[in-house]
Amino acid sequence: MTISGSGRVAGVMGWPIAHSRSPQIHGHWLERYGVDGAYVPFAVRPENGAAALRALPMLGFAGTNVTIPHKVTAFETVDRRDAAADAIGAVNTVVVEADGALAGFNTDAPGLLAHLRASAGDWRPWAPAAVLGAGGSARAALFALLEAGAPEIRLANRTRAKAEALAASFGPKVKVVDWPERAEMLDGAGLLLNTTSLGMTGQPPLDLALDDLPTTAVVYDIVYAPLETPLLAAARDRGNLGVDGLGMLLHQAAPGFERWFGVTPVVDDALRDVILAGMSP
Ligand code: ATR
Repeated sequence: MTISGSGRVAGVMGWPIAHSRSPQIHGHWLERYGVDGAYVPFAVRPENGAAALRALPMLGFAGTNVTIPHKVTAFETVDRRDAAADAIGAVNTVVVEADGALAGFNTDAPGLLAHLRASAGDWRPWAPAAVLGAGGSARAALFALLEAGAPEIRLANRTRAKAEALAASFGPKVKVVDWPERAEMLDGAGLLLNTTSLGMTGQPPLDLALDDLPTTAVVYDIVYAPLETPLLAAARDRGNLGVDGLGMLLHQAAPGFERWFGVTPVVDDALRDVILAGMSP
């Protein structure tokens, strides 16, 4: 990849940052589309997030992705935010505008929807969705599903109070279910979405009986390491369409690339293969 003196520069800001897949994703697209630009990792200490963001216009950067621990700092620091960022309370994409202002976006929610639609035909929320977990990913998922028109969201979390806080901010379509009753909320659901870390490498599997879930339901696991979680394996065994979390990671990157580099990138198997090759031990 080459860059000229007039190339555009963006990156990803986090601490630590070495684990981030974003440089590979954007690097693949930069090369594929022959863009005069670069995408670099920024290792920014937790206390320096706001100052680093404010320096972006001065340095002439096009913008940056923001990851742990800076997503809330970015939310507070930017000059304007999109509706998704406002609802989710976190910014993961910052664009430096022509006048030097910082615009903040949250692309996790559109990334999830784009991935669902790409994986499950023309996916629409035709029935209640069952969501597990109440962290930042669940917040993004709830916003996305309600935006898409979900008639009802059943939400179960080990710590019930966190699910109740989410229900309070997203309104009456979100119904909180006790964690021990999570299997029963699958009855009649069109989507089962795991946003907890259960099933991730090094974590216990998600303990969930799928008997009540219609086989027409899509089962989406936000976990992508491993790609095939015990939940997805069980879902596919009984005939449900299983969707892994890697696609969301790829799709959430697209809006930033488009804004910084002026090309709408495609999420396809070639990109997925590049990222998977980087993940193998
Ligand atoms: P993220 O921002 O990716 O959503 P997070 O905020 O750390 O990550 O949320 C992790 C989610 O996994 C939470 O819903 C958490 O449940 P609690 O709110 O009760 O902590 C859930 N989780 C993690 N380990 C769990 C376990 N062993 N059993 C049940 N839920 C678990």
